[in-house]
Amino acid sequence: MKYFIANWKANKNYQATIDWVKVFKKLYRPKQNVRVIVCPPFPFVPDLKKELKYLENVYVGSQTISSFEKGSFTGEVTALSLVGLVSYAIIGHSERRKNFSEKDDDLAIKVILAKKYAIEPIYCIRDEKDQSPKGVRFVAYEPVAAIGTGQNESPEKVVEMKKKLKITKENIFIYGGSVNEKNIKDYLKTENIDGFLIGGASLDPERFVRITNQA
Ligand code: PGA
Repeated sequence: MKYFIANWKANKNYQATIDWVKVFKKLYRPKQNVRVIVCPPFPFVPDLKKELKYLENVYVGSQTISSFEKGSFTGEVTALSLVGLVSYAIIGHSERRKNFSEKDDDLAIKVILAKKYAIEPIYCIRDEKDQSPKGVRFVAYEPVAAIGTGQNESPEKVVEMKKKLKITKENIFIYGGSVNEKNIKDYLKTENIDGFLIGGASLDPERFVRITNQA
């Protein structure tokens, strides 16, 4: 199984989301060995969920969740509020660690809350200094220098890091950082990478499907 996780980050408005869905629905062909997870900005989660519901092997995820469970936390989006809407949540993306000062302790809480509400955490780490909390299945290795720069890390280096990280057979090991429709074939040659977190190249549905089709 290969996972393709689209991380739209803070891009697109409502109309652009509807446009993306229209094209994606036209082009997407489900495959037994491919699972697609689309992570839009929060406001578009419910409509995306409705639109993608009948597509085989396509799921919706969130880009983060709150480290609070519920209550007086104005503006927060909790795991509880996402029940029935998302199946996955990206947790600990390096952009959140950097721009929102998210620390390992908060991230460990987020993992617990996601699991409590049956949302599968996709836990991001930047290098071997970041430890994924116990019980995390999806570990996404995203070297900061490769994110959004066009400087993707080679499959060999990614697999080397996988060994350093002591990723087990129970884990699903994801790579992210400038994956695109050209370099994806190099990553797909190895059995050691189970999926991809794709930012820039997921914003255009044609490019994104060109990536997923190669699996
Ligand atoms: P990128 O982003 O594909 O644009 O490098 C990946 C990510 O940050 O998840």
